[in-house]
Amino acid sequence: MAIKKNNNFIKLAALRCRVNGRAVQKMVETGKRLLDFLRSDLRLTGTKEGCGDGECGACTVLLDGRPVNACMVMALQAAGRSVVTIEGISPDPRILHPLQQGFIDQGGVQCGFCIPGMIMSCAALLEKNPQADLEAIKAGMSGNLCRCTGYEKIFRAVEQARRELELKNAQR
Ligand code: FES
Ligand code: FES
Repeated sequence: MAIKKNNNFIKLAALRCRVNGRAVQKMVETGKRLLDFLRSDLRLTGTKEGCGDGECGACTVLLDGRPVNACMVMALQAAGRSVVTIEGISPDPRILHPLQQGFIDQGGVQCGFCIPGMIMSCAALLEKNPQADLEAIKAGMSGNLCRCTGYEKIFRAVEQARRELELKNAQR
């Protein structure tokens, strides 16, 4: 299927996927990035665009549990897969995820622009390595840039979240 936009014909294709646990079905432009699909079509504006070039990590989301730069992934690549954005990081939207709480408690947020991407990368890191030490945390976050904080408070925030998640897992 094609539509005319600004005197050009644009191809559309059906996209079915899950976003933050909900089934989504939409016609999307074949050349649309996942980042634009999330922000414009689904109005999930927590995912940010910094460089638009795969360098800054501000657009990080989870695709089947793995962190990806949504500016470098086509929306149609999410077909049949699960996408999680910052809006869906906490299983209960009324309760902050330990990472979100950690960033608040440790003063890890300044302008906030990089934080959704940071949190998504850290969530994937702690899922894969629940005992990640400081070096592992630094390595896991190396693709996420922050122009404000100097990173120390961010690392403390992730360490706080790791301790919190360890405690929760031990109580299960
Ligand atoms: S906006 Fe995607 S990596 Fe910078
Ligand atoms: S808090 Fe401003 S870019 Fe990180």
